[in-house]
Amino acid sequence: MCGIVGYLGKKNTKEILLDGLKELEYRGYDSAGIAVLQDNQFDSFKAVGKLVNLEEKTKDFVTENFAVGIGHTRWATHGKPTELNAHPHLGDSSYVVHNGIIENYATLKKELMDDGVRFLSQTDTEVIVHQFEKNLKSAENAFEAFAKTIHELKGAYAILLVTKSEDKTIFFAKHGSPMLVGINGENKVSSPEREGSLGYEKYFASSDAPLIGHCSDVNYFEDGDYGYVTADELAIFSKNGDKKKPNFSKLSTNKLSAQKDGYRFFMEKEIYEQSTVIADTLMGRVGDDEILFDEIDSSLFDGIHEIKLSACGTSYHSALSASYLFERYSKIKTSVEVASEFRYRSPVMTKDTLFVVISQSGETADTLETLKMAKEAGLKTLVICNVDNSSMVRLADATILTRAGIEKGVASTKAFATQVAVFWMMSLYLAKLRNSLEANEIARQVSLLREIPTSVKVTDAMHEKIKRLSKRYLHGHGFFFIGRDIFYPLALEGALKLKEISYLHAEGYPSGEMKHGPIALADPELFTIALLPQHLLYEKAKSNVEELSARDSTICAISPIEFDKADDFIQTTVCKDYMLEFFEMMVVVQLFSLEISVRLGNDVDMPRNLAKSVTVE
Ligand code: M6R
Repeated sequence: MCGIVGYLGKKNTKEILLDGLKELEYRGYDSAGIAVLQDNQFDSFKAVGKLVNLEEKTKDFVTENFAVGIGHTRWATHGKPTELNAHPHLGDSSYVVHNGIIENYATLKKELMDDGVRFLSQTDTEVIVHQFEKNLKSAENAFEAFAKTIHELKGAYAILLVTKSEDKTIFFAKHGSPMLVGINGENKVSSPEREGSLGYEKYFASSDAPLIGHCSDVNYFEDGDYGYVTADELAIFSKNGDKKKPNFSKLSTNKLSAQKDGYRFFMEKEIYEQSTVIADTLMGRVGDDEILFDEIDSSLFDGIHEIKLSACGTSYHSALSASYLFERYSKIKTSVEVASEFRYRSPVMTKDTLFVVISQSGETADTLETLKMAKEAGLKTLVICNVDNSSMVRLADATILTRAGIEKGVASTKAFATQVAVFWMMSLYLAKLRNSLEANEIARQVSLLREIPTSVKVTDAMHEKIKRLSKRYLHGHGFFFIGRDIFYPLALEGALKLKEISYLHAEGYPSGEMKHGPIALADPELFTIALLPQHLLYEKAKSNVEELSARDSTICAISPIEFDKADDFIQTTVCKDYMLEFFEMMVVVQLFSLEISVRLGNDVDMPRNLAKSVTVE
């Protein structure tokens, strides 16, 4: 995920920006850059890859006087990870850095291009600086132009902008992406604007870590906040233009906990983050009543009569979920392959099949190999991936990025969530293309998609309940996770999560399969985690659970409908559609595994024997 830093003051601006970016490295990035304005002169540097490349480029650059500077680490979403696409982005005499996604960038870009503005990058961010400079021409001052620009943007952003027209100021705005400003009560800096007047140096960042050690107090901006800082002033305005007082709090000094945003584990942070990252996944793709994928050409589906999905582990489970959605909504034949199996079984591949690989990392050796096989067989290929410029993205004909940001926990959570969100969108995109769903049904589901970020929000009550329950599930001779239809892949995923971090034996089964063998294991020491959605085959799934309950298996039911045959019950929200139930239950099974692992004293983020990216066979 992208990171932002900013500094205004007299210290070594270059070092402060580069050190700040280093503190954000853990978030993942594929390029980085800085822009520094001192004595009304800009110096800007960008580099692809690791920060050492940027350090190398800036080694002869010195900052000694009062300066304003901004920096950025980029995780590509719009446009490849190249130097041109790296931030800061330049206008005529201003630079901008931005986290988030500008949803209306295409409209703004077209208008600007019609006015003769030349764009250098493929990013949505670049429109901000050009729009600002356009507004500057008719505004009284730079702040007026900046405020107007912010009100014209739709989407999510944390923005810092510096401009020669007010060269001792940093402009900022925040909506939907985090940002804070910090000061150090002891480090006063004389204002170059007003001789003798003392203000404070100012630091900006998109999370706490870069400010630790520099700042004593920080103000976390709220959504809609925008304004500017000078040495003397911190001016914050709310979205309706009212001036606000800063609300400073003391900054923690623990860097590791700052990286985890205060959560105990990266996995926990990533579970909580799902609401935000899914909002990013949907952004710009969920239209009023249809799905838009700017990144793919609909001709990719010309002549396609089948979709074959190939993946490993958690990504395989999301592929299985896709098969339910594609057949149900897009009415297209869909098959799913475990990549390590597909490689060696001499599969028949026909050119009317779209070959789709799914991978968080884009580097998994088995999945990559199946992509190569499909390409060699002349199939059209698509990758659903979280990492731009990864091997799979470079190889496939087309890419849809999941925009989950870097996932540090070895046990995948938010990557899975964003993959399924992409597949739900894709099934509706295809349904429109293939005329397989009525327009009003597509529109209904499009509006449901917008509710996913709410469905995956972790409530205190839910987390507390799962924490308490977890103590009863630390032993036994195994777990069954059971579900029907698309809840079967979710059951598989729940079982995989538990296995990975608790080291307890767990299996996922379709609920209807129990009586064909597995039920022989049922006894009080066999724990069944039953997914019982209200809106999909509830009665059928319930009777399967009753069969287990009659054999004295210990049942933990997850459902919005109370179930008296269960030993334990986790109540989910009554909602409109089974897919929203899917997403909420996904969070429940993730937290359930997490809390069991914590109680067992395991390493949640780095479980034994596992690696985050499996680049060997
Ligand atoms: O990067 P990929 O999505 O291709 O990785 C595939 C699997 O290795 C991965 O999902 C693995 O199963 C995770 N540890 C699951 O939590």
